[in-house]
Amino acid sequence: MHDIRKPIDEARLDAHSMPLGDIDVSRPELFRSNTIWPYFERLRKEDPVHYCAQSRVGAYWSVTKYKDIMHVETNHKIFSSDLNFGGIGIQDVRPDRRHDSFISMDEPQHGAQRKTVAPMFMPQNLDQLAHTIRVRAGEILDRLPRNETFDWVDRVSIELTTQMLATLFDFPWEERRKLTRWSDVATASPGNRAVIASEVAREAELRECGAYFAELWRERRNQPPKADLLSMMAHSEATREMDPDNFLGNLILLIVGGNDTTRNSLSGSVYALNLFPDQYDKLRQDRALVQNLVPEVIRWQTPLAYMRRTALCDTEIAGKRIAQGEKVVMWYVSGNRDEDMFERGDDLVIERRNARNHISFGFGIHRCLGLRLAELQLRIAWEEALKRFDAIEVVDEPAFIYSNFVKGYEKLPVRIPG
Ligand code: HEM
Repeated sequence: MHDIRKPIDEARLDAHSMPLGDIDVSRPELFRSNTIWPYFERLRKEDPVHYCAQSRVGAYWSVTKYKDIMHVETNHKIFSSDLNFGGIGIQDVRPDRRHDSFISMDEPQHGAQRKTVAPMFMPQNLDQLAHTIRVRAGEILDRLPRNETFDWVDRVSIELTTQMLATLFDFPWEERRKLTRWSDVATASPGNRAVIASEVAREAELRECGAYFAELWRERRNQPPKADLLSMMAHSEATREMDPDNFLGNLILLIVGGNDTTRNSLSGSVYALNLFPDQYDKLRQDRALVQNLVPEVIRWQTPLAYMRRTALCDTEIAGKRIAQGEKVVMWYVSGNRDEDMFERGDDLVIERRNARNHISFGFGIHRCLGLRLAELQLRIAWEEALKRFDAIEVVDEPAFIYSNFVKGYEKLPVRIPG
């Protein structure tokens, strides 16, 4: 790999010389170039609750320190997730393009819909899924070429998480890559070289997703209840009469939740272990360290960069006055590298004592529902990979996703020596 420090050094100059008020951490190009870090470093130090008055997504507050993010997360009566006030994305969504899902609802509606699908993620059910995950991970890894460069994102990360998602929905197996596409479309920022050209194009593809799933929904509704996510929603009181927008919204939530996040953690783990080869050596010497590698890599990667809330009343965060109706963005990606919480936060440290305290899964009433499933997939994938390969070598810098929300990889070229 070539020297990745140079662009970061250039960004550091820029981040530390521009007027504070001009800093706009929502620019997707900073994530694409992986040069976002010095901007957050400066904000945490000089202006941890920062107001950006003008940006492509309008005015917004950035909350960048771990403890302040926790404050927002745990005060859901003040900081709303409700789509009618703006939802969880930094960009307000036009009313005709809104798809409510329980992640963008407040109580009591949120809790009722969350409960419907929660059994899927209970330990008992996960124990049953573990075997399937292990078999599939083994098959995917066994098919990988030796001594040849290939894309880890496509061959492993996408394939493993898409197979899992198809299982959770009991989705037609041969068509499972549709799930990958819909997940990418739902989260990409429109623009140059991006997955989608415009918001109109996004809406059209998401409508196709809704129509496809509506067919499956009708089938499941007319069959006795089964243990897949669609059947669970089709037979539950809180969700069986969902309007089409709420239906599509919950589908997108589960598709994105189950797909991009785990996919990018798996790619991130390969990348991070190559950036920190001493940590890779430790892991090879003691495979039990996989247990702590998993939360540490989820911290280091932070697959979702932020969640947004809207202030329901005038309030304060760390002494800054926030007015009712203002956008508040909790940058998990910054909280996870907050020097007051994580020593040497930029580094991957697989024996880090407080790795489990990362904020990548959020906190409070909306804390990630699928977190145990995500951890299980990552743990098993690495257990199986360590059994098979001495090394997975990253041969060139990855291509990062053009998004300020999903933080991850388009491509990660690797080689497995044979
Ligand atoms: C490393 C992988 C993952 C990460 C980093 C992640 C991250 C998150 C975050 C940040 C939230 C919002 C938390 C908040 O607002 O406080 C969330 C919620 C959610 N996640 Fe995940 N997630 C992951 C994997 C999964 C998986 C595998 C699923 C299952 C299919 C899933 C399903 C959900 C659902 C349904 C919610 C909404 C919960 C609610 O609003 O009550 N996630 N996740």
